[in-house]
Parts: sequence; structure tokens; C-alpha cells
Amino acid sequence: MKLAGLLMIEHRLIERMISVIDEEVDAIRAGKKADALFADTVVEFMRIYADKCHHGKEENVLFRELQRKKISAAHKRTMDELVTEHAAGREIVKGLALAGRYDGNRREGNLTGVIKGLERIVKFYPEHIEKEEKYFIVEVMNYFSGKEQDDMLNEFREYDRKLIHAKYQDVVGKMEKDHSSVLEHCQSSVTAEQDRFRADDEPCDAGMTGK
Ligand SMILES: [Fe+2]
Ligand SMILES: [Fe+2]
Repeated sequence: MKLAGLLMIEHRLIERMISVIDEEVDAIRAGKKADALFADTVVEFMRIYADKCHHGKEENVLFRELQRKKISAAHKRTMDELVTEHAAGREIVKGLALAGRYDGNRREGNLTGVIKGLERIVKFYPEHIEKEEKYFIVEVMNYFSGKEQDDMLNEFREYDRKLIHAKYQDVVGKMEKDHSSVLEHCQSSVTAEQDRFRADDEPCDAGMTGK
């Protein structure tokens, strides 16, 4: 496995997701009911796989090493554009996440925002991937020796290995935070008198049902 090849394999998975999104947008426009879970899954994929895993390896390993090399002005310009595009991609996904935020009563305005966000992703990513593959990733490999490429490949693997742990530490951390605020809410909103009538095993679900 070569370094450029690994990044391209990741591009192919992103493209498969883009095709699915494209089909879903067409179906919604043709009258299919929008699915809240679909937008949530897209947001999760774009944030974790496309951005943290894929862009993360590009920026934190490949681009970092390129900054230590004497690269051409054209490659430097393209690299800067790619970083800017990664940030733009994050904003698009953030817009979709906000539009698709499920509050138990999805409104028409949110649905329009969801469709718009999905369409923006479909337009954005293929162009970004094409730029990388046609004008950057393969060309910049010439700045590195075989050993340097192997070292980066090992760093990619280590990056992936750590990512799964970082993700679930984050998930548990957020759940702990939400859980402790729910418990605080329960404790502060229940008077001593009410507390006496509350069964020990009654769940306190305030803040979790959206009521
Ligand atoms: Fe990229
Ligand atoms: Fe990429």
C-alpha cells in the first residue's frame, strides 16, 4: 500500500456516500418523506470519517511534512486552498447539522435547510477530491523518499488507531456531562417534600424527553 493510494481509497468511500446522498436528495425532491436519521448519519460520516479521519491525516501528517520541504509555489498555493476547503466543508456540515437538528417536530424550514445542506455536500466534495487527485497528492509524492512515505503511512495507521479511542472518549465525556446536568436538574427541581413521595427507583428523565 502506497501513501497516495491510501488517501485515494478513502476518497472512494467518500464518493460512495456522496452518491447515496445525491440519490436521497432526488428522492426527497420527487416526494419521498425526509428521514431525520439520514441527515444525522451523513453528519456523523462527514465529521468523523471525511473530516477527522481523512482531512486529519492530510493536514496533520502529509501537509505538515510538506511544510518541511521546499515545495513549488503552485503546490503551496494548492495546499493552502485545500486547507481552506476543509474548513469550508466543516461549515457546510455544520449547517446541515443545525438544519437537521431533530427536536421532535421537524419544521418545513428545517427540511429546506436539510436538502440545501445535502446538496452543498454533493457539489463540494467531488470537486475537492478531483483537485487533490489531479493536481496534488500524486505530484507531491515526488518530494519524498520511499522511506519518508513509509514513515507517513505508519503515522496514518497510528492516527486511525487513536481516532476510535478519541471518538468514544468524547462520546462518553459528553454523555457524562449531559447526565450530570440532568441529575443536577433533578436535585435542584425537587423539593424536600416532593422528594419524600418519590419512589427510590423512579427514573428522573427531565431534560431527556424534550418536555
Ligand atoms: Fe482534502
Ligand atoms: Fe482528500
